[in-house]
Amino acid sequence: MEQRIITTSDRPDLAAQSDEALLADWPEFILHDRCAPELMGRAWQLFPQFDVRLLEDGAVTAGGWAVPLRWSGEAGELPDGYDGALASALAGQHAGEAPDTLCVMAVAVDPGRQRAGLAGQVITALRDRAAEAGLRRVVVPVRPTLKSRYPLTPMADFARWARPDGLHIDPWIRTHQRLGAGILGPAPRSMIVTGTVAEWQDWTGMAFPQTGTYVVPGALDLVEMDAERDQGSYVETNLWMRHA
Ligand SMILES: CC(C)(COP(=O)(O)OP(=O)(O)OC[C@H]1O[C@@H](n2cnc3c(N)ncnc32)[C@H](O)[C@@H]1OP(=O)(O)O)[C@@H](O)C(=O)NCCC(=O)NCCS
Repeated sequence: MEQRIITTSDRPDLAAQSDEALLADWPEFILHDRCAPELMGRAWQLFPQFDVRLLEDGAVTAGGWAVPLRWSGEAGELPDGYDGALASALAGQHAGEAPDTLCVMAVAVDPGRQRAGLAGQVITALRDRAAEAGLRRVVVPVRPTLKSRYPLTPMADFARWARPDGLHIDPWIRTHQRLGAGILGPAPRSMIVTGTVAEWQDWTGMAFPQTGTYVVPGALDLVEMDAERDQGSYVETNLWMRHA
């Protein structure tokens, strides 16, 4: 099988196919982060070299994107998470600041090609590009795939759940660990999704008949529903990891 890494700017014709393959496995509500869509569009335009796709025999089977930003190297000075990193990268670019860190925003693999190490190839391609661009550090606000089964557990506790072999119980954290990454700590307000009760019902296929706190499939934290204000809010905690 022929494998090749390209950027979306090399092959804009692949955008539709790429979206179909790579968005299939995300819970719908996470695509409604209010701050993200406009900023994401700007980031893809400004940093196309960090928006990569893996082609296998000409078809998109995996992809990932990242943004360059400036970071002191102190865990306490990281942005709040995904939204914060995006805002920081765009503000830094606007201010003419020289970035020193690549922040990997998302990686996705076609459901039919998962468990074959493709995510690792995408991360490696992004790390290589960071090195080529002179960015000394690589960080990721990781969205652990298993965390949605433990929405009541704080991320700080989940972060410590290791197997006897020392690797994490979460498969997505393990992929980063096998590539040499270490855990820095929770990214407390990584993504924020708000919507009306009807929108949340549409996104999740669940009914929310009264004000309260709900467990929602695919959500890493609980969702707060306010029937009187007709608003549902979700604040997702991710986990900062740093690659060697
Ligand atoms: C998370 C994701 C990127 C991993 O990609 P991948 O190429 O399958 O990853 P790997 O082949 O390195 O597999 C890593 C581990 O995850 C496990 N895994 C992969 N896909 C899985 C699935 N659908 N269900 C359960 N486990 C899975 C693998 O078995 C492996 O576990 P191991 O450590 O015991 O060997 C992919 O599952 C995906 O696209 N998910 C949807 C999008 C997403 O959640 N992205 C991460 C947030 S940015």
